Amino acid sequence: MQYTSLGKTGLRVSVAGLGTGGFSRMGLKTGKTEDEAARLILDAVDLGITFIDTAPPYGTEGVVGRALKSIPRQSVAVATKAFIHRNDEWSTPDRVIASLDNSLRLMGTDYIDVFNLHGVEPHEYDYALNTIAPVLIEQKRKGKIRHIGLTENPIVDFTNVTLKRALYDPVWEVFMVGFHMMHQGARANVFAGTREKGIGTLLMFAVRSIFADPPRVAREMKELAAKGLVEPWLGATDDPLGFLVHDGGAANMIEAAYRFARHEPGVDVVLFGTGDASHLRTNVASLLKPPLPDADRTKLAALFGHLTGVGLDGHQGRSR
Ligand SMILES: NC(=O)c1ccc[n+]([C@@H]2O[C@H](COP(=O)([O-])OP(=O)(O)OC[C@H]3O[C@@H](n4cnc5c(N)ncnc54)[C@H](OP(=O)(O)O)[C@@H]3O)[C@@H](O)[C@H]2O)c1
Repeated sequence: MQYTSLGKTGLRVSVAGLGTGGFSRMGLKTGKTEDEAARLILDAVDLGITFIDTAPPYGTEGVVGRALKSIPRQSVAVATKAFIHRNDEWSTPDRVIASLDNSLRLMGTDYIDVFNLHGVEPHEYDYALNTIAPVLIEQKRKGKIRHIGLTENPIVDFTNVTLKRALYDPVWEVFMVGFHMMHQGARANVFAGTREKGIGTLLMFAVRSIFADPPRVAREMKELAAKGLVEPWLGATDDPLGFLVHDGGAANMIEAAYRFARHEPGVDVVLFGTGDASHLRTNVASLLKPPLPDADRTKLAALFGHLTGVGLDGHQGRSR
């Protein structure tokens, strides 16, 4: 494993971070038991992963808690989250504290390394900053939170509006950012600023659904080419990203997606989710490979750097 500093937090963390949400939820969504999911977390730790991300709606905090029973608490950094606005209802500060306390209880720990406000949309940002952040600072003083973070909601915020604003408010020590081969806006919108200010970055959406599904990539390219948003040849092939797979390049599209994300300047930790032990191993191996060749990175930026809103799908019903 390779390790890096998470911005200026002082946390030293693995460059591969285990996401226990996404579509897989450590396999709970496809019938794995909590014990099996906890075993997968321990497999990740055995591979050197020291950053674990969860959140109340994922239903995996209890599983993280099971895994934490088998390892020294300080050997991993644990992040969880709280919503501030959901189903047209704003969470009061007391409710956010209750959510934090419940996360601590479910995970059987007395502190959270990074406590994030979850999927904060642009119109929610003022409330996050003015009403909730002061309460988080108090919880930090009490030792229940080590660092305060903010995650964006790429599914509705294609151009990182929330994080662009948050760059100017020093309360946020860590950002969770959406970024992938066809969603590269954070390079200019976010990473330039986080690097300057020492804000730690956790990357989500490196693969999501789109790059785990080659026919879908081809379908999206056809639609974009028909709208004149990408070069015509990308819409006329069944393998638009085939140019990334070659000797000295990536072995396949998923590997390309993880290597692309991992080596973007300004990215500290790439989160990935899986319910599959072999995916866990291959994803870690991909993240530890060198950057894609310069020519491929340049081509990805030239072909797709201008796109917004591609491959940012949510869960059925409510997103995030
Ligand atoms: N706003 C937020 O706060 C927010 C939003 C989204 C995500 N997140 C965090 O980010 C983490 C990562 O989420 P993500 O949205 O980037 O998606 P993800 O969970 O990493 O999605 C990857 C998908 O690709 C599949 N996959 C993974 N490795 C594969 C492989 N080697 N071969 C084939 N298929 C593979 C997985 O299914 P398998 O189970 O089959 O491997 C999964 O369905 C989440 O777990 C969560 O912690 C946070």
